[in-house]
Amino acid sequence: MKEKFVIGVTGGSGSILALTLLRNLENFETHLVLSDGARKVFKEEMGTTGEELLQLASYTYDDKDISARISSGSFKFNAAVIIPCSISTLGKIASGISDTLVTRASAVALKERRRLILVPREMPLSTIVLENMHKLSLAGAIIAPASPGYYTKPRTVEDMVNFVVSRVLDLMGVDNSLIRRWRSGEK
Ligand SMILES: Cc1cc2nc3c(=O)[nH]c(=O)nc-3n(C[C@H](O)[C@H](O)[C@H](O)COP(=O)(O)O)c2cc1C
Repeated sequence: MKEKFVIGVTGGSGSILALTLLRNLENFETHLVLSDGARKVFKEEMGTTGEELLQLASYTYDDKDISARISSGSFKFNAAVIIPCSISTLGKIASGISDTLVTRASAVALKERRRLILVPREMPLSTIVLENMHKLSLAGAIIAPASPGYYTKPRTVEDMVNFVVSRVLDLMGVDNSLIRRWRSGEK
């Protein structure tokens, strides 16, 4: 059986991160939700409202549809990833607010002790956000900021996007060769 992933896309900057992740999950069953914020940012950054993203997913849901199957603990999935994860969504998840499908699916991942990977994009970080991240980390979530490394000497935005997405795929347990591994090939 194919591994199942829940992918939430919210209104943090970095629509290209979600697009690149979905492009690398074509051999898996993906359940995709876009928040209204994500659609707005997608329009600013990609010039579209996210149709190409929706086409890549196996299943798509409306963020207002809190009765969708991924809102139930009985729906089994391997990991949930919120990419990008806005500071607003991160705060809601940290506070136990589940008034959208993205926040509900994240709450389910936490309560069922399944892997939840949050990819925030914000800087600098306020004390409130840092406290929320700390709380989520203690609750079992993985905070994986969209911050590329520079030791790989990236030349393009694509290189930097691939760095972040590769690390997220690693956390999901998905083999990938998006980046050259540090000192790979050395004896
Ligand atoms: C162009 C644009 C860029 C944004 N970038 C960020 C960002 O990098 N990080 C963030 O937390 N919010 C960012 N926001 C704000 C969120 O989209 C906003 O707080 C929204 O209400 C989040 O709602 P959601 O989490 O339901 O998508 C951005 C908004 C716009 C319009």
